[in-house]
Amino acid sequence: MSNITVAESAGFCFGVDRAVQMVYNELEKGTKVATLGPIIHNQDVVNDMSERGARIVESVDELEPDETVVIRSHGVGREIYEQIRTKGNRMLDATCPFVSKIHKIVDRKTKEGCFILIAGDASHPEVQGIVGHCDENCLVFKDNFELKDFFQNREKNFKKTLAFVAQTTYNILVWEKCLKEIPENAPDIVIFDTICNATDARQTDARELAQRSDIMLVVGGRHSSNTVKLYEVCSRYCKTYHIENSEELRTLKLPSAENIGITAGASTPAYIIKEVQTKMAEIEKEMIQEEENFEELLDQSFKKIHTGEKVKGTVVAVNNTEAIVDLGTKHTGYVALDDLTDDASKKPEDIVSVGDEIELVVIKVNDAEGTAALSKRKVDEQAGYETIVKAKEEGTILEGVIQHVVNKGVTLNVLGVRVFIPASQTGLPRGAELEQLLKKKVEFMIIEVTEGRKRAVGSIRAVQNARKEEAKAKFWETAAVGDTFTGKIKSLTSFGAFVDLGGIDGMVHISELSWKRLKHPSEVVSVGDTLEVYIKELDKESNRISLGYKKAEDNPWEIFMNNYQVGDVVKATIVSTTSFGAFAQIIDGVDGLIHISQIADRKVENVKDVLSEGDEVDVKIIDIDADAKRISISIRALLEDNADDAE
Ligand code: F3S
Repeated sequence: MSNITVAESAGFCFGVDRAVQMVYNELEKGTKVATLGPIIHNQDVVNDMSERGARIVESVDELEPDETVVIRSHGVGREIYEQIRTKGNRMLDATCPFVSKIHKIVDRKTKEGCFILIAGDASHPEVQGIVGHCDENCLVFKDNFELKDFFQNREKNFKKTLAFVAQTTYNILVWEKCLKEIPENAPDIVIFDTICNATDARQTDARELAQRSDIMLVVGGRHSSNTVKLYEVCSRYCKTYHIENSEELRTLKLPSAENIGITAGASTPAYIIKEVQTKMAEIEKEMIQEEENFEELLDQSFKKIHTGEKVKGTVVAVNNTEAIVDLGTKHTGYVALDDLTDDASKKPEDIVSVGDEIELVVIKVNDAEGTAALSKRKVDEQAGYETIVKAKEEGTILEGVIQHVVNKGVTLNVLGVRVFIPASQTGLPRGAELEQLLKKKVEFMIIEVTEGRKRAVGSIRAVQNARKEEAKAKFWETAAVGDTFTGKIKSLTSFGAFVDLGGIDGMVHISELSWKRLKHPSEVVSVGDTLEVYIKELDKESNRISLGYKKAEDNPWEIFMNNYQVGDVVKATIVSTTSFGAFAQIIDGVDGLIHISQIADRKVENVKDVLSEGDEVDVKIIDIDADAKRISISIRALLEDNADDAE
């Protein structure tokens, strides 16, 4: 980075600052202000004042009656004061006291009959103002050469006493040269050094700064004579640029420089100097950045690439057979379709798009032709292989679509790696057709990785087992007696039915399958049936789950109690005989006992003489023992009733 130094005395001088403050003070008070010419040679300040209401007039004639006229720091001739007085406008005199001092000198010397010699620029308002105090009894000279001419012709002109003054912003070096032209010890010449110290200090500072700088920026209005003089001073020592504000910096083609100096004319506000300083630092930074970027690009263009190296590139074109890649080197990189993917159904445009930044492996470099064959597939395979190895270590479940049925298994491709799933790991029953898995999306786990060949063995069954274990763990964590499930019957045994509750099996005991007494569960259910079951008992120690199936509303005893009472006559079917009587079914699941004494209206010696299994008889319910769930029924009671009715 360059050193940027701002000259100590750069910017507003005392006189300009005073004049500018005067105008702003009046504007703040709400005064209608008109300045006789621009208050300073700085367009930014003039614009700002104009926005706040100040008006610039070129002559006293243009003044409105209610306007306060401000005389700027350059001062004016006596005639202008007179015109203002005549017009009657309020006047604020912002003439710099150093300029006023010159006015007083020339006023006095003119009265004394001297001829006034003014070193300065005849077109400058300050010089015109000074002339306006000399009654045309004066001469303005630009430099030592014009002064020399004057002295050479003096005899011819006149023999008055001469009084020398200088424009306050006159170049001090030229002034010194001028003094050398004045004859020594001449009694008829008086010299007044009226060059302003501020100008002197500014020029001296600028000169010293320019001497130790590579470039100088002189900030100030194009019409500001002191700024122009600063420019002249600095130009003698280094490359110098005259700018009005920071915006102009962008239009300059500044060379790189170690030391940059900044100075500014007397009418340049401090904020503009600060802006220039800041902008310069920004531009410098951008230039350095650009240089660095350029060097980086240059380095890259010479960069070599080697077979097997991993590189990054940006896709710049995609066609039907390949993708073209910019590697940031002099090589044109291309990736053939085979090296983009091993999926034969895909085209290059399915894999990459223009603008994609991708990682590639260099498979062949041809420096003579400036080409490089690249492979994305190899990078993907490597990344895929690493993912597969990690998946094995962490037991991650992966997804893929079965692509081929091969000898003793199926294969699929995941992340560019071929995975073989043996038939025994497909989760299908032994001997099942493997074709049924083709094009199916499956979940699998990696159970083996072959490092050198980048092959892996997968298992769908492992996922199924893992899911089962997961379901079991979850079941035992949350299951409670009374929980209901809908499950499928997986198998039947002589003592019950096994029901799949979703990864875990429970058993419905044969006695739970029906309110009737069963000889085998197959009397009421079959494998594959769906049952609504509930947990009757949980044995976490032995992982046994006893399930209930019978429902209270189907209980035959409840049905009987709700529909029959003592005294009812019903039809019953003899289901068994004993020595003390016969059991007869009243409704499905409910039997009553016909005691031997109740079989007939006579004494019966042997039950079987009268009743046999399967006989259907009319009986009367003569007693119901609800607690013991026993029903007494009688044929005899019915016969006696009939006899009574007959009588
Ligand atoms: Fe006055 Fe000197 Fe400035 S004469 S206006 S202080 S340059």
